[in-house]
Amino acid sequence: MRTYRIAAIPGDGIGKEVIPAGLEVLEVCARMEGFELQVEHFDWGSDYYRRHGVMMPADGLAKLRPSDAIFFGAVGAPGVPDHVTLWGLRLAICQPFDQYANVRPTRILPGIQSPLRNVTTADLDWVIVRENSEGEYAGQGGRSHRGLPEEVATEVAVFTRGGVARIMRFAFELASSRPRKLLTVVTKSNAQRNGMVMWDEIAAEIAAEFPDVTWDKMLVDAMTVRMTLQPRSIDTVVATNLHADILSDLAAALAGSLGIAPTANLNPERAFPSMFEPIHGSAFDITGKGIANPIGTFWTAEMMLRHLGEIEAAARLMRAIEAATADPKLHTPDLGGSATTDQVTRAVCGLIGN
Ligand code: NAI
Ligand code: MG
Repeated sequence: MRTYRIAAIPGDGIGKEVIPAGLEVLEVCARMEGFELQVEHFDWGSDYYRRHGVMMPADGLAKLRPSDAIFFGAVGAPGVPDHVTLWGLRLAICQPFDQYANVRPTRILPGIQSPLRNVTTADLDWVIVRENSEGEYAGQGGRSHRGLPEEVATEVAVFTRGGVARIMRFAFELASSRPRKLLTVVTKSNAQRNGMVMWDEIAAEIAAEFPDVTWDKMLVDAMTVRMTLQPRSIDTVVATNLHADILSDLAAALAGSLGIAPTANLNPERAFPSMFEPIHGSAFDITGKGIANPIGTFWTAEMMLRHLGEIEAAARLMRAIEAATADPKLHTPDLGGSATTDQVTRAVCGLIGN
């Protein structure tokens, strides 16, 4: 039987509620399509940090390395600084495993209302590609003279030719595989005249390799306006680590809720395992209430199945997700309904079998 090793890291907050729900749904997919998931559970996160002073053990990466994919919840907890949780776990996995392509599909699922007037599924079907290894989140910089009036802090954005070229090539390939073959390269080369100008130059060079793709360039501030007022003009988008971080939260909100948005942190060469996670955080305002929307995690599971090559199972799961969102009785409070995480999970498990 086809067997896949999955490393499950629920992390903090609602991560501990949506990841078990996602694993249940994956188990039903595996049963229906005849493959096996060997799930290894890791209790790393803020509770682990409080006990051990680190977010994950020193041999954490070695433990994850043999897995075929990592299924990740979220990190972040009250009382632990966000930069500690993020750099201690999520980025501590993404960077060494060279998961440089962060892929974020956004669509208005059936039954879900966009906050934009008169915008439906046909008007908003995007994939945002985020450069996930360098740029503004490379971790370069420092602080000197702490607490003194002359204190200085730098946060250096790093762009390398290799890093930019590989994400551009990935984005052009993805755009080329989609029906509209349309790519928008997001930039800020008017104000950031070094890194972003090189970014634009490399985009133009890579574009020459993809004559079938129509592409344009857009300043990041203008891009927020275009996403809001002309969503239909957009298909595939590529942007830097920071820019795409912000734009993809906007995209998720325009598609109805942060609670339905999925993401994949890919090492496209498959030299390392890739990591799949809902884009939302640990949401401590709703932790423990049983009302976290699990749809973002289910869609994330769909992306993971696709990555594993289980295309039929992925299609089956996506049909079940869409059937669930089409039913307002299965909407959690973030979508204006009153369904619980458990009710949505039960329903999706049932729909996968249909
Ligand atoms: P958040 O995504 O946790 O929550 C933002 C808002 O959306 C909250 O009102 C929350 O209740 C709601 N929400 C999020 N996911 C939901 C879901 N599945 N169902 C229903 N409602 C949902 O972002 P926030 O509040 O800025 O951050 C909370 C913590 O999470 C922080 O510590 C932050 O650093 C961390 N975080 C971690 C991320 C990760 O692990 N990848 C990503 C974003 C934030
Ligand atoms: Mg974000």
